Amino acid sequence: MTVYQWLVLFGLLLKGTVDVFALKDVVLTIRPQIVERSGYATLMCSYDLEGASLYYVKWYRGKYEFYRYTPSEKTKTKLFPLGGINVNVDRSNSTQVVLTDIEFQLSGNFSCEVTTADEPVSTETAVQNMVVVQLPESPPTISVGREPLDYGDTLRANCSSPPSRPAARLKFILNELPVAFSEDFSPRSSQETRWSDLPLELLLQEHHFNRGKLVLRCVAQILDVYHEEAVLELTSARNPVPEKVSALDSAPATFCQPGLLVGALFFIGRF
Ligand SMILES: *[C@@H]1O[C@H](CO)[C@@H](O)[C@H](O)[C@H]1NC(C)=O
Ligand SMILES: *[C@@H]1O[C@H](CO)[C@@H](O)[C@H](O)[C@H]1NC(C)=O
Ligand SMILES: *[C@@H]1O[C@H](CO)[C@@H](O)[C@H](O)[C@H]1NC(C)=O
Repeated sequence: MTVYQWLVLFGLLLKGTVDVFALKDVVLTIRPQIVERSGYATLMCSYDLEGASLYYVKWYRGKYEFYRYTPSEKTKTKLFPLGGINVNVDRSNSTQVVLTDIEFQLSGNFSCEVTTADEPVSTETAVQNMVVVQLPESPPTISVGREPLDYGDTLRANCSSPPSRPAARLKFILNELPVAFSEDFSPRSSQETRWSDLPLELLLQEHHFNRGKLVLRCVAQILDVYHEEAVLELTSARNPVPEKVSALDSAPATFCQPGLLVGALFFIGRF
């Protein structure tokens, strides 16, 4: 038997006298969990009182309480002023708090603490992290040095993404081949936004060319809320491989046929 099973058994023995399992399943959900600066977020605290009555729900940012909901009192809601926190009281109740005009400094842990009124009083807390971001105002841009380029030349380029927080992570991709990444950057101050820059200096080799073409992409990413890219087609000094279809070139097309057939059979086989 697990400790939990023992506890359940113990609880069943006690049932009728006191209810040991008065409060459970306290869960805090923040929507959205990654919120844009000066936007708003809803913090939802769900709980199962199992028939007990609610004494209060206390809301904390870090270890500081900023909102309390006490259903038994005349003034059910109580606000504790805390720097940078704006509560929309009209939209807040016993299970949720709505924060508006969210600033960077609110990034961090929030928690809701639920306490029952009936003896024995039980208290449960749930914690959730919120991240405040500022996205760049425009997509990244690429600047390059001289063109055209050939094997043995050095490709010089810069990619930059306008100020954001956190700074965007940048990646250069040359013809589907990742060739450079930016490093992660930790902001020094709570208000800081920052440009992201990524230089590229690459000695071009044969495998960098695809049919004589050079396509350079720069991808800017912030957590999983922002993904933008810039694409630049560079002039290559290499003659592109002729794309006209000759008698010889048509040969690979016939190789496709068995594949198509297998694909069709597989498809039929799935029914
Ligand atoms: C609190 O307000 C939200 C949004 O208006 C609502 O969905 C929710 O049911 C309310 N909770 C309670 C316990 O009334
Ligand atoms: C935030 O909460 C998580 C999970 O409870 C904890 O591991 C982490 O240390 C907390 N962070 C801070 C800054 O208190
Ligand atoms: C890239 O940025 C560096 C430093 O800002 C600069 O010296 C260089 O000229 C830039 N190169 C291109 C191709 O824009």
